[in-house]
Amino acid sequence: MFKLENVSYAYDTEDASGQGGSRRQALCGVSLQIKKGEWWAILGANGSGKSTLARHLNGLLLPTAGRVEVCGREVRDYARVQDLRRLVGIVFQNPDNQIVGNSVEEDVAFGLENLGTARPVMRRRIGEVLQMVGLSGRETVDPAALSGGQKQRLAIAGALAMQPQALILDEATSMLDPVGQAEVLDLLQKLHEDGLTVVMITHNMSEVLLADKVAVMSEGRLMMTGTPAEIFAKSDELQKWHIELPLITQLGNKLGVAGCTDLDGLLQKLEEMAED
Ligand SMILES: Nc1ncnc2c1ncn2[C@@H]1O[C@H](COP(=O)(O)OP(=O)(O)OP(=O)(O)O)[C@@H](O)[C@H]1O
Ligand SMILES: [Mg+2]
Repeated sequence: MFKLENVSYAYDTEDASGQGGSRRQALCGVSLQIKKGEWWAILGANGSGKSTLARHLNGLLLPTAGRVEVCGREVRDYARVQDLRRLVGIVFQNPDNQIVGNSVEEDVAFGLENLGTARPVMRRRIGEVLQMVGLSGRETVDPAALSGGQKQRLAIAGALAMQPQALILDEATSMLDPVGQAEVLDLLQKLHEDGLTVVMITHNMSEVLLADKVAVMSEGRLMMTGTPAEIFAKSDELQKWHIELPLITQLGNKLGVAGCTDLDGLLQKLEEMAED
């Protein structure tokens, strides 16, 4: 689905005097392949390049060096950038910044109208995607009246209306309450079961566990890829890259290093001690 070869990217930045000319290197030589239907989590400290990487997956940014292929075709070879944006939907952190319509159905219709979709097709598509995200019956509701989780599901519906091959989520659950987070994650699991490729940027380790594969970023470089279990086993490296594991995983890893593989036995001993 995605193939990145030696991708580097630098932002043009202006210095405080407004003279400009300086560049900030945000990605350095990133190579990564994401297959169709896989669910990836991207982990990394603040400023490590996760969002910059995400923006390369649907042509919002083009690499300064290296190449990005989406569905077997170089991003620069897409005749229209809209074709690429249709193939790869992206949902951002703040649900309020992504709403464009005055009603739920108008919001989903927006992207379809831009494509010049015929009315009857549009009606049907809107019905289908609102059903998928669990917002059927809310067609005429003002999006401002929705909960955070509902707003993010509406943003996902807008992307799904384009019939994408992949969905990128850039910390899309981080501003939601636990109920909203669970709603969005349930939806993603269903879409993934139906074959959608999911790339999720997150700081939340329980979300990482849902992924098939994890990519770890630090200072613009891809440091490691693997299954969640493989990644969580490398707590020393993760700490070096300023990624905090949940306490329970740290404890499990420490006990493993100390030669304690009999966790059940250890727990039993602790219980006995507590009873004494
Ligand atoms: N528009 C921009 N102009 C200049 N520099 C930028 C811009 N956007 C990001 N950067 C810089 O590029 C680097 C990577 O930023 P990026 O937003 O990709 O990181 P991130 O991993 O998504 O961080 P966060 O966890 O805070 O979202 C950082 O050093 C950042 O300051
Ligand atoms: Mg970011």
